[in-house]
Amino acid sequence: MDDAARLAALARRAADEVEPGMTLGLGSGSTAEAVVRELGARVAAGLAVSGVPSSERTATLARQLGIPLQALGDVARLDLGIDGADEIDPRLDLVKGRGGAFLWEKLVALACDRYVIVAAAEKLVERLGSRAPLPVEVIPFGRRQTAARLEALGLRPSLRVRPDASRDANAPGGEPVPFVTDSGNHVLDCAVGPITDVPALATAIKAVPGVVEHGLFVGFAQRVLVVDADGTVRALDRGAGQAGR
Ligand code: A5P
Repeated sequence: MDDAARLAALARRAADEVEPGMTLGLGSGSTAEAVVRELGARVAAGLAVSGVPSSERTATLARQLGIPLQALGDVARLDLGIDGADEIDPRLDLVKGRGGAFLWEKLVALACDRYVIVAAAEKLVERLGSRAPLPVEVIPFGRRQTAARLEALGLRPSLRVRPDASRDANAPGGEPVPFVTDSGNHVLDCAVGPITDVPALATAIKAVPGVVEHGLFVGFAQRVLVVDADGTVRALDRGAGQAGR
């Protein structure tokens, strides 16, 4: 089955988790956007839901699709959040943030009563850090020093630059222009390799001055909907004994 058909099957299955009247956390990235599109079609067909977007890009898409939106600050709780991920381990802990929206995604996720991840089976890993870099959002001021502190933790940070490869005409060497998050920050993509103690690394990164947030989502997902190569969608559920966030 081709990727578009797999994505559509996954989006339909994820939208089936939604009930009328729910307030939803709307994720970011290509997989979450497929779910937003499916929800848009269901809203057009009469489904009454509203959403809190986790990025400016998702907000724009949801508006175009006619999904009623609310700001995170205007809601007490969200019934259900649906989002993508870059890596998922057997505990359903995650690396997120390839799209750069992980700070807002984490704030939305924390407000959700239930949090469901949608992903292709290729995103499943034995250990986080083995497939994707770990993104860390930092304030631009003192970025070099913040990067050095992350290196001291054993990470290998590199500055994320804009995907259009634009260069800063005012910089002496025409430096690549940094990617800027919806909060005006920069992202250091950190090569880390398979992580042995995810909670300990999450705590250590968060303690570095200049760090705003990292892409480790520990204890967030209750369910991961995984689409296999043949388009079959499987639900992986967090074990009853596993700690939540
Ligand atoms: C956005 O910042 C990310 O957290 C995405 O949810 C994640 O990178 C998955 O993206 P894709 O669905 O595009 O692979």
